[in-house]
Amino acid sequence: MTTADQVRAAVSAVTDPELRRPIGDMDMVRTVSVDGTHADVAIVLTIVGCPMARRIEQDVRDAAAAVPGITDVDVQVGVMTPFERRALTEKLRDGRPAREIPFTKDSLTRVILVTSGKGGVGKSTVTANLAAALAHQGLRVGLVDADVHGFSIPGLLGIAPGTQPTRIDDMMLPPVAHDVKAISIGMFLRDGEAMVAWRGPMLHRTVKQFLTDVFFGDLDVLLIDMPPGTGDIAITIGQLLPHAEVLVVTTPQRAASEVAIRSGLVARRTGQHVIGVVENMAPYTLPDGTVIDLFGTGGGAEVSAALSAPGDQGAPAEEVPLMASIPLSPALRVGGDAGMPVVLDHPEDAAAQAIIELARTIAHRGRDLPGRSLPMRLI
Ligand SMILES: Nc1ncnc2c1ncn2[C@@H]1O[C@H](COP(=O)(O)OP(=O)(O)OP(=O)(O)O)[C@@H](O)[C@H]1O
Ligand SMILES: [Mg+2]
Repeated sequence: MTTADQVRAAVSAVTDPELRRPIGDMDMVRTVSVDGTHADVAIVLTIVGCPMARRIEQDVRDAAAAVPGITDVDVQVGVMTPFERRALTEKLRDGRPAREIPFTKDSLTRVILVTSGKGGVGKSTVTANLAAALAHQGLRVGLVDADVHGFSIPGLLGIAPGTQPTRIDDMMLPPVAHDVKAISIGMFLRDGEAMVAWRGPMLHRTVKQFLTDVFFGDLDVLLIDMPPGTGDIAITIGQLLPHAEVLVVTTPQRAASEVAIRSGLVARRTGQHVIGVVENMAPYTLPDGTVIDLFGTGGGAEVSAALSAPGDQGAPAEEVPLMASIPLSPALRVGGDAGMPVVLDHPEDAAAQAIIELARTIAHRGRDLPGRSLPMRLI
């Protein structure tokens, strides 16, 4: 191998932070030449003003400089031609036509909806932390914020306001936070802007676009944070992803558990599979032993029992376990406000422990379809 070949190999292995693939695989390395100890490298990025340009340039420079015999490096950064860009998006789609949802029946990605019925029970907080915990355990994780009116995922993951997905023609690259690729309507709005007037068709189109136009790449799990209730968006998702799995979140309180049962039954009616119940805001114990049970106890078990009962018209009973009981936790809330998931920052916290355990349960459970289990890279 000549030194130029070595430089080319080193530079080609640099990964694009958004696409998460080696730039060599994506034809982003144009020319490499070596003159004595000096290397000239020309790369092309997808778009003008690519937000990651500096980082890629630096990584390329470092990679080239690490080759023995090279002491100084010049990196020229250009932009792909429309033709090259089209070739790239086609490659990323891996033969799939544009505007098609990649997460349908034959996909290896498990799609898990987090739903509740009642609002404010902690769906988004649980979803963001579950996503971070699964990613920390080595899974490739995507997160769609399907709560268009009440989006909260960017804040929970600490994605700075104003952060937008990078666009390559009609493809969008989701911002990555804590190793989670996330997309939310919040990334498309200017400060203080709201979509109060949005109704069914607009909501439908937005959620569908999140699933078709956002490039998540190969994922092990796609989590979807649902809005409260069983409204337009739940119906849309039910139609678009009829094979999704569902986690039902409830608090221990009867008022929440009754609605949670209904939302589980509605999801099942659209063909989705309710895989488990998560009880949130369960009692927590103060250091002096005092138990704080703000929302009572038993709601999670109640939802699990009701959803495990035989269905109407003699439908067979199916076990819907209580997968986690997450206690009330100031640290969980503080982490949410700060955009730093408690599972990463304070994994010793009791709520964090419960969510980390939930992530393990989900990762090891594998998916429903026979012969299809999740890649077990985490063990
Ligand atoms: N276990 C918990 N302990 C303490 N606070 C919690 C806990 N879970 C959630 N919270 C807090 O409760 C509030 C509501 O949580 P979150 O927004 O996640 O609920 P949600 O079900 O997604 O709400 P919505 O229905 O509006 O989408 C947040 O302020 C969050 O920090
Ligand atoms: Mg929410």
